[in-house]
Amino acid sequence: MSQDHPRVRLSLYDTPLRYGLVTRFLHWSIAVLMLWQFAGMTLKLVLGRVPVAAFFVGTHQKVGLILFGLIVLRLIWAGLNRHRRPDHGGGMRGLAARLGHLALYLAMLIVPGAALLRAYGSDKVFAPFGVAIFPAQEPPIGWMVTLGDLLHGEGAWLLLALIAGHVAMVGLHEGMWRDGTLARMAGRPRRDP
Ligand code: HEM
Ligand code: HEM
Repeated sequence: MSQDHPRVRLSLYDTPLRYGLVTRFLHWSIAVLMLWQFAGMTLKLVLGRVPVAAFFVGTHQKVGLILFGLIVLRLIWAGLNRHRRPDHGGGMRGLAARLGHLALYLAMLIVPGAALLRAYGSDKVFAPFGVAIFPAQEPPIGWMVTLGDLLHGEGAWLLLALIAGHVAMVGLHEGMWRDGTLARMAGRPRRDP
């Protein structure tokens, strides 16, 4: 750390220059848990029910429920901070960033939401942590199961494609435009000019 670039403390809230501690915690914890979910389901699809895949699959509902809670908190926090967080600028690039983020927010909510809708309508008790959250429906609620099936399975892979695009864009910002985009969400900031 040099004298020319003293560090500043991150605030809890976002600012127009960078995302604050709460947004960063939510962004990175959600990213890690998503990776966990996709890694487990990919292992299951590629290797079948081998022990390592079965381990991940065994945690899928628990981690998914925690993710859903974090995502709801994240949406509330994004709403509260909407006027003070970094702006994505005008023009086509700014519009593309805003639309890309909107798609991520929608998919992030719909994918676990659909799995929970399916669990609510199903004829099995939903008790990921051993306590019943949804009782068994007798008979099952058909439309909830069908819609949840469709949106969760296909939607999850669409979400993965959106995440891949998002990470690729961050790579482009860092590698080509070098405009400090990653530093708004990661790392300790330097004092503002
Ligand atoms: C954001 C959180 C979540 C992600 C990223 C995610 C991702 C996935 C993926 C990629 C699959 C494989 C789909 C396929 O086989 O083509 C899957 C399946 C599954 N997920 Fe999730 N999931 C999440 C949350 C949840 C939650 C909250 C539950 C429980 C309520 C759940 C229950 C299941 C079940 C039972 C399956 C196997 C049946 C199926 O293919 O739909 N997931 N999930
Ligand atoms: C290695 C993985 C990831 C990296 C390097 C990364 C990096 C970033 C960076 C640098 C920003 C700030 C962009 C800006 O200020 O314009 C950002 C914002 C964002 N990220 Fe990620 N991200 C990753 C994974 C994810 C995942 C898994 C999700 C969700 C599924 C996600 C959702 C978002 C959203 C919605 C925003 C917009 C925040 C807002 O302004 O409302 N990111 N990400």
